[in-house]
Amino acid sequence: MSFSYNIQNSSKIELLKKRYPDNRALILPLLWLAQKQESYIREDAMEHISEIVQLPYMNIYSVATFYSMFRLEKTKKRIVEVCRTLSCELNGSEDIKKHLDDNYSDNFEIIEVECMGACSGAPMCTLDGKYIENLTPQMIDEVLNAN
Ligand code: FES
Repeated sequence: MSFSYNIQNSSKIELLKKRYPDNRALILPLLWLAQKQESYIREDAMEHISEIVQLPYMNIYSVATFYSMFRLEKTKKRIVEVCRTLSCELNGSEDIKKHLDDNYSDNFEIIEVECMGACSGAPMCTLDGKYIENLTPQMIDEVLNAN
């Protein structure tokens, strides 16, 4: 079955079209909605977005592959994204990543990402998209073992 947005996301897209009259500005929010809906961005979702914004498929593909926060493959594991940008790095994200890799890589997909805009809570990560800030290895153990 080819990709289409669900009713809720279709409504959001109509609002987004009014907010962003330049179709190129719609690419990022449409990719986000596609990923949120399916947990990753399917190839036919990019084709669908290409039709909505009336731009070549390659434009959509290049945006989707440029940003590390977009996933183009489905994973069965739950996803932990660890920020590795300056504020988080200065506050210990490297130790956090090592702790995650050493203890949780069998059950979670651990991904390094760039700044997620929560620098005041550095170091931070996300678990299935939910922000977890001011991380310590002990806090990770509590959160991941509880989920
Ligand atoms: S540097 Fe990590 S959230 Fe900004």
